[in-house]
Amino acid sequence: MPEGPHAERITVVGNVNLDVVVAGVAELPPPGTERIVPSIAVRPGGSAANTAVTLANLGRNTVLVGRVGDDGTARLLDEELNLPGLHAHLVRAPGESTSVTVAAEAPGHDRAFLSALGALADMDSSAVPSDALASRYLLLSGYFLLPVMRGERARELFSSARRAGARTALDTGWDPGDWSADTRTEVLRLLECVDVFLPNSDEVCALADDSDVDSAARTVAASSGTTVVAKCGSRGALVVTPDGSVTECPTPRVRVQDSTGAGDAFNAGLLHRLADGASLVEAAGYGVRVAATVISRPSHDRRFSPADVLPEQRDEVVSR
Ligand SMILES: Nc1ncnc2c1ncn2[C@@H]1O[C@H](COP(=O)(O)OP(=O)(O)OP(=O)(O)O)[C@@H](O)[C@H]1O
Ligand SMILES: [Mg+2]
Repeated sequence: MPEGPHAERITVVGNVNLDVVVAGVAELPPPGTERIVPSIAVRPGGSAANTAVTLANLGRNTVLVGRVGDDGTARLLDEELNLPGLHAHLVRAPGESTSVTVAAEAPGHDRAFLSALGALADMDSSAVPSDALASRYLLLSGYFLLPVMRGERARELFSSARRAGARTALDTGWDPGDWSADTRTEVLRLLECVDVFLPNSDEVCALADDSDVDSAARTVAASSGTTVVAKCGSRGALVVTPDGSVTECPTPRVRVQDSTGAGDAFNAGLLHRLADGASLVEAAGYGVRVAATVISRPSHDRRFSPADVLPEQRDEVVSR
């Protein structure tokens, strides 16, 4: 465990971008035409940035490491990420552009995303300053959106973090290449350097090539020796240890206003409590409450304080 001023800190490395969220778009207008939409909101996004912002909302001293262009988008991100407790270390890539995601949403439709990787396309572990490694936890988030960071580079990053005394966590997100056998081998090998793996249910099933979440998470945990905390949407989360124990943490029932970033908020709540020394099951219980708190707030008002986190419910944990 690291000692000194950063012993309680969490470092999040990964995808930072600008989100442009367009409301009221089920499909694009025909070429050559224009349509007025109810609103277009611009805000920081990317799973690493979302997690870091939620950690800062929870009062955690947090470092966010990403790579951006030398453009107005990066300056806007600097401003938006200037939050108490959050140190954003965004490496500037001269001549490159900052990653932007456009999300089109409409009632009754799944969101459609268009993303340009920009400066993320060349982000490797050299973006991570050595003094950012000595934290309680180092989370790598958005792995598949960082093509140069994959494989050996990510293993080196986790190994350096472990040498600096940090515990390691990984959220890959969905593989845009749909989980080939080579990719599955790559991720399983990377998990040897990871203490806590944070997939969602689809991701862990794809990784294990098994349609049942419980058995997929058990297989991954047993073969890698890594604890798997699988996020299962409205079912909550499953904590699966390498010895095969499975604990289910149901989520509080909430009226979902905007489910974007649910997984990132969960990761923040879980790591925040793990960094305080809580057990995995306690920490996952907090993770589901933080996720439920965030997704039940409107998209334009996601700032919250620890006092806003939904209270614990009785009988919420089931072990088997
Ligand atoms: N409909 C819901 N009701 C209550 N809680 C939810 C709901 N959807 C998600 N959550 C909470 O958020 C957590 C993460 O959501 P999910 O399983 O969808 O992860 P994800 O797919 O990684 O999310 P994201 O869409 O952010 O990538 C869940 O484990 C659960 O605690
Ligand atoms: Mg996710």
